[in-house]
Amino acid sequence: AVTLTGAGTMVAGTPAHAALPGWGRPTVTAAVPQPGDPGLGDTYFPDYGNGGYDVEHYDVRLRYDPGTDRLSGTTTILARATQDLSRFNLDFLLDVESVRVNGWAATTRTEGAHELVVTPSRTITKGQDLTIVVRYAGVPSETEVGGYTGWTRTDDGALAVNEPESAWWWFPSNDHPLDKATYDVSVSVPTGVEVVSNGVQPRPPLAEAGNRSRWSWRTTSPTATYLAFLAIGQYDIVTDTAPNGQPVVNAYSTSLGELAPAARASIERTAEIVAWASGIFGPYPFEAQGGVAGPVDGITFALETQTRPVYGPGFWRRGSNTSVVVHENAHQWFGDSVSVARWQDIWLNEGFASYAEWLWSEEQGEGTAQELFDFTYASYPEDSEFWQVPPGDPGAGRIFDDAVYDRGAMALHQLRLAVGDDAFFEILPAWTAAHRHGNATIAQFQALAERISGLDLTDFFTTWLFTAGRPDVPGSAARKA
Ligand code: ARG
Ligand code: ZN
Repeated sequence: AVTLTGAGTMVAGTPAHAALPGWGRPTVTAAVPQPGDPGLGDTYFPDYGNGGYDVEHYDVRLRYDPGTDRLSGTTTILARATQDLSRFNLDFLLDVESVRVNGWAATTRTEGAHELVVTPSRTITKGQDLTIVVRYAGVPSETEVGGYTGWTRTDDGALAVNEPESAWWWFPSNDHPLDKATYDVSVSVPTGVEVVSNGVQPRPPLAEAGNRSRWSWRTTSPTATYLAFLAIGQYDIVTDTAPNGQPVVNAYSTSLGELAPAARASIERTAEIVAWASGIFGPYPFEAQGGVAGPVDGITFALETQTRPVYGPGFWRRGSNTSVVVHENAHQWFGDSVSVARWQDIWLNEGFASYAEWLWSEEQGEGTAQELFDFTYASYPEDSEFWQVPPGDPGAGRIFDDAVYDRGAMALHQLRLAVGDDAFFEILPAWTAAHRHGNATIAQFQALAERISGLDLTDFFTTWLFTAGRPDVPGSAARKA
């Protein structure tokens, strides 16, 4: 509720009655709808996401033509107002044809790099259910922000796969991990083109007029916007059932050529890796599994897109690679189910996914976590820039710095040594249970680790996560370095 001053204050100049007693004092008290904030106050990306509403579901219905990269369609957002709203923002880049809110036409304008300001014709009250229907079209690969696009057009299709920014190019959203939602994604493409996304296929591709097919995918677990993805192109799709009974959908770009056997040998082990990880991290948090081996001209990284990571071709160049499959699937717990509340806390994702690779190596008898710690510690000279980036606060431009991954994994190994294996392997599943399908901060992880271990870990977290410079380690690692 906001207190208004007298209407007279709105008038330019000072009216004659301003001299009367009472003029200019508050005369009206009312709840006045306010604009939703254009961001969620993220310390690194203050304008990512929006305030004033909370999304429950995105229904994304698209049409795509690989020949032109033209994407068009309608996204219906089911949300709830968290305040009285005069207007609100969505994060989006493509050209908007119309927006309706609860059936009423709304006006829109763009603001800043990626904000779509929506002014509904009726004000919205706190707690009200919102149905926001956005019709749009564009050529995502030609839609750049600062010379950059999170949409990758390829020879035979496209990939909407990037972190943290990828939704902007294909659906309007509240683009921050704090606002998770479920998804229905359907895309009409020329028949013969495949479309892969998160979750399960509620129905097979259905024929449409004009020799087209409409593919449908459904995600029933809360999903952060950056973990929703599209892979469109020529794919061999292989389905299976995991040991836990869940559907497995793997997709291999037909462009991979001689890289295809290594891609298959690696991604085929997803269900086995998920089963192993479940024994350490707690129950697998989602409804489906799988992986997408992206095309040779696609992305150069891998991303833990929910239920189905997408891998760039580079991971298969030296043969099969289970490390990257372990890394991306560990993210299903650390990142996807337990998501950062703010991007600064990216260590909760990358440190844990990287340490999972060391645990897997140890499990496989290919080198213990201690050996990997020693090797990694020694591989960065004391005067290396590497040690100047604190993983707990790497900076907005360095959220994927090597320090977040490698020093991040080293930090977890040192935590394990500090608290002992019993406590460490109790902390990991307790963490994924406490924040399942939610958000969390490093401070919350420290508190949980302290509660379970009974230790004050302030110095440990300060040194390993928040202080520039190479931490000293007792024992073999220090000697080797
Ligand atoms: N979370 C990803 C991973 O480590 C990293 C994504 C990096 N993003 C990028 N655009 N390069 O698995
Ligand atoms: Zn990662």
